[in-house]
Amino acid sequence: MKYALAFIGIIAGTLLTIAMMLSWERPPMASTQIGPRGVGMVEINNPRMEAKLQKANVAPEPDPPVKLSGVKVKDSKDYQNVKVLGDLDVEEFNRLMGAITNWVSPEQGCTYCHNPENMADDSLYTKVVARRMLQMTRAINTMWTPHVAQTGVTCYTCHRGNPVPANIWFKNEGSPQAAGMASSRQGQNLASKVVGTTSLTYDPFTPLLAKGANIRVNATTALPEGTTKASIHDTETTYALMMHLSTALGVNCTYCHNSRQFASWAESRPQRVTAWHGIHMVSEVNETYLNSLQGVFPKERLGPSGDVAKVNCATCHQGVYKPLYGAAMVKDYEELRQPNP
Ligand code: HEC
Ligand code: HEC
Ligand code: HEC
Ligand code: HEC
Repeated sequence: MKYALAFIGIIAGTLLTIAMMLSWERPPMASTQIGPRGVGMVEINNPRMEAKLQKANVAPEPDPPVKLSGVKVKDSKDYQNVKVLGDLDVEEFNRLMGAITNWVSPEQGCTYCHNPENMADDSLYTKVVARRMLQMTRAINTMWTPHVAQTGVTCYTCHRGNPVPANIWFKNEGSPQAAGMASSRQGQNLASKVVGTTSLTYDPFTPLLAKGANIRVNATTALPEGTTKASIHDTETTYALMMHLSTALGVNCTYCHNSRQFASWAESRPQRVTAWHGIHMVSEVNETYLNSLQGVFPKERLGPSGDVAKVNCATCHQGVYKPLYGAAMVKDYEELRQPNP
């Protein structure tokens, strides 16, 4: 009996060790100093993972430029229902239709958005969504340059050849709970992937990627009181969002902060300011463009609480500090950098 138990123990121990090793990243790691000396501001990367990321984040070759026809879509009798792209040259318009097919629905083709009998028809919801996406992409590229700079974004930045981008989020209200005193989990204590399988707040996006949200939790007075006071729960929600920022960009906290004093802007890297604009861009994109499509998406595209899919940092960044390592795709599709009509 004693031997049997010891034997089971050894097998269990070995299996556990193997399981743990599978979730480890094998050394050696590479580290790069990115801040002042002696404050631990280093980026730690695994060169083997890096190669995989590099491969997964390559921008496609742009389509060759076309010879303009001199006729604008809005002046051509061949087009009946063009509401956003009317100012484009007909040739440029056709080139763009080919490009968005490659970026969003390469397998399904034009008919993912179009009724093949009548291209002007808006009966497929995907076309209505795509029109809003055109407006959204233009708004990001023209109104959010403090974040996207001249690099900008195209449909490919988020979609990568998939109709539904790989990284989206829905409101998460947790699983059903008993009533009475136990009726609220305060949005915590369910191990969640969003926060690296810890039990921190599992949906930091709904409260903090919203207009007017307060992410700041550090007291600004010696004796915190009134509106400057943050609860432990608020603090945990802020940390949960910060874990998302780090994983979405594939960086450490010190990519933006000097961890000696997280709140201090003077000691932060300039990237933190870019990130601040990013947070505001994301909340605007979600509120103005995605939430307004609430009645358009079919039921199977909605989340468990019936809300539409939304964007966070990972939707564009996909594990990299600049989406597609900073490849500037928009310069080959300037029509996505025009103001909306
Ligand atoms: C991801 C969705 C999507 C795909 C895929 C797509 N289109 Fe479109 N298409 C649109 C949207 C949105 C409009 C309307 C643009 C606007 O209102 O400014 C449009 C408009 C058009 C029009 C104008 C119709 C009219 O008379 O109003 C034509 C022609 C067209 N597309 C051709 C194509 C062709 C050809 C393909 C395949 C190579 C294609 N589209 C693929 C979304 C798409
Ligand atoms: C900032 C990220 C982002 C960009 C840029 C973007 N999209 Fe989207 N797109 C989304 C999200 C999020 C959804 C919602 C996912 C869903 O359909 O459930 C979506 C959905 C769609 C859908 C509906 C797909 C379906 O099957 O439900 C179409 C079509 C689409 N986008 C076309 C486009 C086109 C065309 C462009 C470029 C002009 C574009 N998108 C740019 C994030 C983006
Ligand atoms: C990509 C940049 C970026 C990364 C990475 C990042 N943060 Fe932040 N962090 C910000 C920004 C921007 C704010 C300010 C938000 C605001 O003021 O609206 C902030 C705010 C904070 C605050 C609140 C400070 C205050 O004013 O009370 C704390 C705490 C914090 N971050 C901790 C962390 C931790 C811990 C990590 C790593 C898990 C991390 N951050 C990773 C950009 C980043
Ligand atoms: C619509 C796509 C999109 C979304 C969503 C997005 N970003 Fe970005 N981000 C970009 C682009 C494009 C750049 C590159 C700008 C440049 O070339 O300077 C960038 C650059 C950055 C940088 C600068 C990196 C550096 O080393 O200079 C930071 C930091 C950053 N983003 C943080 C965030 C955070 C945090 C979020 C979520 C709150 C976010 N981004 C959401 C598109 C996006």
